[in-house]
Amino acid sequence: MAKIKKAFFCKNCGYDAPKWLGRCPACGEWNTFTEEVVARESGPAPAAVGANLPAAKPQRVADIRESEHRRIDLGNAEVNRVLGGGLVPGSLVLLGGEPGIGKSTLSLQIALAANGLRTLYVSGEESAEQIRMRAARIGIGNEECMVYPETLLEHIVAQIEELRPDLVVIDSIQTVYTGLLESSAGSVSQIRECAATLLKYAKGTGTPIFIIGHITKDGTIAGPKVLEHIVDVVLQFEGDNNYTYRILRGIKNRFGATFEIGVFEMLDAGLREVDNPSEILLTHYDEPLSGISVGAAADGVRPYLIEVQALVSGAAYGTPQRSATGYDARRMNMLLAVLEKRLGMKMFQKDVFLNFAGGFRVADPGLDLAVVAAVISSYFDRPIAEGVCCAAEVGLSGEIRPAPRTEQRISEAARLGFKRIVVSGYLAQSARRPKGIEIVAVNRVGELPKALFME
Ligand code: TYD
Ligand code: MG
Repeated sequence: MAKIKKAFFCKNCGYDAPKWLGRCPACGEWNTFTEEVVARESGPAPAAVGANLPAAKPQRVADIRESEHRRIDLGNAEVNRVLGGGLVPGSLVLLGGEPGIGKSTLSLQIALAANGLRTLYVSGEESAEQIRMRAARIGIGNEECMVYPETLLEHIVAQIEELRPDLVVIDSIQTVYTGLLESSAGSVSQIRECAATLLKYAKGTGTPIFIIGHITKDGTIAGPKVLEHIVDVVLQFEGDNNYTYRILRGIKNRFGATFEIGVFEMLDAGLREVDNPSEILLTHYDEPLSGISVGAAADGVRPYLIEVQALVSGAAYGTPQRSATGYDARRMNMLLAVLEKRLGMKMFQKDVFLNFAGGFRVADPGLDLAVVAAVISSYFDRPIAEGVCCAAEVGLSGEIRPAPRTEQRISEAARLGFKRIVVSGYLAQSARRPKGIEIVAVNRVGELPKALFME
């Protein structure tokens, strides 16, 4: 009789155990174990995929050739920047995002735009005709782009070995499976095994591989967390489905900074690179409105200006409502508590809603001051003077601290024609102060209203 081997896997971290456990000993999560059939065979186990790759040898660090560090230009400035200046050969990149956000579009577009590179786009989700239709919408630039609808890892690997492509896209890791395991595609053991095999291939042959992964509602990559540990780079594609803007965010990057973002607009003919995000994140109003402020942000090296909207209104019920879209709700509550304590604003009686333009999600602490400014403006129902923007962090004691790269933020505000920027008074004396814009330095939140309303 054939022997069936089963194992239990933690859905959160990929830990495996011979029996079911209520709490994962590795990550501490409760109720995350699922049973999966790992093997059902009678004969000898088949050879592992990639066993025929040449083994690597230790070599002196000084002897490693520089050319191995060259980066591949993907022909897409936004993606290149998020990757840290192009794609590193042999790197494994995970592209995560919610269904329908545009992961397939972006990766096909990369495969089609990487001129001069032989690209292999493996899809387990769509047929060749469907991909062809999508490619026609985007525009076929790269004649060397190959499309391969397949889900069995062994076949995919055989094709990679035969075609020797310069870039591989796997759409998506949840649809790929290996014949070595009996569990179904998308299960923890399959995802773990397939990702490990692809990693071996990427490293062994120097072929960069993009893996697409679906993200669950709570923002984690479906399947094991272990996927994030295996890959070199984790990119997250995000955006609000009600808007056309999309952000590509570096979450992890072994070859560069992680806070870099790329901005795109979803059009009928694919994703347009937005090289000047401020243009889409600022609105021009006929008359000044209260509750609106502008913050000079810098996620990564590129500064941009973004509109912040706040609505502060009397709470109708006992407990005030607090809601933040695109911003950390705890950080907003902290800033509201600072305003309550330092400015005597009665926030405990107020509902507060906070929003960022374009459905953008921001994590830059340098936007604190803009958030505070929007709340103050709405609370007192007074519009902020035209042409004023903010760039600073706010501390727990209501002190205004300098935001990283304040100089670049000021330059961007000046470039866009802003008349005044409110920054921290603690900004280093040596900091360059670009001309053409009035710089108002404040040290405490109490000084903010004067600076905003230009009294
Ligand atoms: P898709 O790349 O299929 O998303 P994912 O792979 O992340 O699930 O993108 C799906 C959406 O993108 C779909 O609603 C249609 C839209 N879209 C455009 O607006 N323009 C285009 O050129 C393409 C190809 C898709
Ligand atoms: Mg898709």
